[in-house]
Amino acid sequence: MKQTTDLLKMKQNNEKIVMLTAYDYPSAKLAEQGGVDVILVGDSLGMVVLGYDSTIPVTIEDMIHHTKAVKRGAKDTFIITDMPFLTYHLSVRDTLINAGELVQDAGAHAVKLEGADEVVEHIAALTRAGIPVCSHLGLTPQTVGVLGGYKVQGKDALAAKKLLEDAKKCEAAGAFALLLECVPRQLAEEVTKALSIPVIGIGAGLDVDAQVLVYHDILGYGVERVPKFVKQYHSLNPFILESIQAYTADVKNKRFPEEKHTFTMKEEELKVLYG
Ligand code: KIV
Ligand code: NA
Repeated sequence: MKQTTDLLKMKQNNEKIVMLTAYDYPSAKLAEQGGVDVILVGDSLGMVVLGYDSTIPVTIEDMIHHTKAVKRGAKDTFIITDMPFLTYHLSVRDTLINAGELVQDAGAHAVKLEGADEVVEHIAALTRAGIPVCSHLGLTPQTVGVLGGYKVQGKDALAAKKLLEDAKKCEAAGAFALLLECVPRQLAEEVTKALSIPVIGIGAGLDVDAQVLVYHDILGYGVERVPKFVKQYHSLNPFILESIQAYTADVKNKRFPEEKHTFTMKEEELKVLYG
């Protein structure tokens, strides 16, 4: 299993790091078998597998529940779990208790927190307590209400400068990695050069140290539309739909179950039973 120090070495060796989300046992198992370096139990699970409109309703209990399932599926992969909305903004004590549940109870190896500013002291406290922190800047979906929608961030010089400063603050506070979501590639490259910790991109171009995508997005599984930054390797929806429709038709038309799906009793047993 890769550790935070291995990820740092990969950056230094210019070796790309692969990260993918997973939310349950089968997705984690396949992600591990598929050779990803890191699994992210993202709070995107709120939208992708729980059907919410945003990540805001996701709770710490949701993250614990899904992290435990992922852990059972991927015993040999580094797992980062998102801290959900408002679970790292109250007291540092609250933050430590919440992160503690994700690490100690659920088995995450690290946690991910959105933002810098007031969050920086929480990053420092978690790191001091022995919990590795991955920061998340750029498009931070938990603050979608403040950002005014899911838009590319850091497009103008002023916003880009702020993001670069924030990135440095996260690193200084002890973050072992930084995730950048939906930022221009030039800015992502600049941040990647400025930091010594690995920079993970999603919609951040090629010049970062790592890439992350959402499991269901790359597979076209359950999701309808995917953002511009996603590469879809398959579209599983039609296969799943076809299978379910065929099953439905088979049952209705008495084509299922067939003999091979059916258990039978021996004749002599039937004789004993009915005389
Ligand atoms: O929740 C999530 O999946 C994320 C992404 C950046 C992939 O935070
Ligand atoms: Na997230």
